[in-house]
Amino acid sequence: MLLDELVKLLQDSNYAIVFTGAGMSTESGLPDFRSKDRGLWEKFNPNELANVHALLHNTDEFTEFYQYRLSEITKYQPHAGHHVLAKWENDGKIKGIITQNVDGFHSDAGSSNMMELHGSFRTFHCHQCKKEYERNAYLDGTSTCGCGGTIRPGIVLFGENLPQETFMRAEHETTQSDLFIVLGSSLSVSPANMFPLLAKENGAKLVIVNREPTDYDMYADLVIQDKGIKEVLTEVNEKL
Ligand code: APR
Repeated sequence: MLLDELVKLLQDSNYAIVFTGAGMSTESGLPDFRSKDRGLWEKFNPNELANVHALLHNTDEFTEFYQYRLSEITKYQPHAGHHVLAKWENDGKIKGIITQNVDGFHSDAGSSNMMELHGSFRTFHCHQCKKEYERNAYLDGTSTCGCGGTIRPGIVLFGENLPQETFMRAEHETTQSDLFIVLGSSLSVSPANMFPLLAKENGAKLVIVNREPTDYDMYADLVIQDKGIKEVLTEVNEKL
């Protein structure tokens, strides 16, 4: 049974790191980006919106898109799987979570050693003068700064650099890990998708829990595709 193998890997590990993508939050209600016919990028085109050019030259559409995404995130909350990961960190079964997600659900569920590679919707600031703004102000429609600049979420837009300190911490944790568990990512966006192989190169066991195949399945010690992440985490938790 694949879940029993994951239980054993967790029991045998001393430094397990979890790496999550948008598939971690679909069972909370949030669409992921690339699932067939349900992903967010089927409705909106990231090349048109999720970048600085759109922020500067297609500002109304950019703002409408991110106000939509923020309103979606505030409608939903972490599911049982997020809470299992927070419990495992608390019990020392995992040492931290590297996430591509910007929904903040891992910290809402109580995880603390968090590395948000793509930032989060927790903070908003003016793109020009960097003045910080409340998330609720953005929800209520405030999108232009007093300086005339555009207010934007504290997430990494395509073409922008990832937060350096977070990236380095994620690199360090990955090289420390003896078990690296990917949950709900197509592993199609760099540089975030370098971490599974970095873990493998440093001797870690690699587990990929994902509904659809990824280009990294061939390097994994264990691939689980036939169960959703919430089910995998709650069932493994019962067996641990
Ligand atoms: N259980 C298991 N797998 C799931 C579930 C689930 N409940 N729901 C979705 N998945 C899988 C999908 O099959 C898909 O392969 O999760 C994967 C999510 O992949 P993406 O939608 O590509 O999301 P992600 O890998 O996080 O995207 C990376 O791309 O657009 C950028 O910045 C954005 O952080 C994002 C990055």
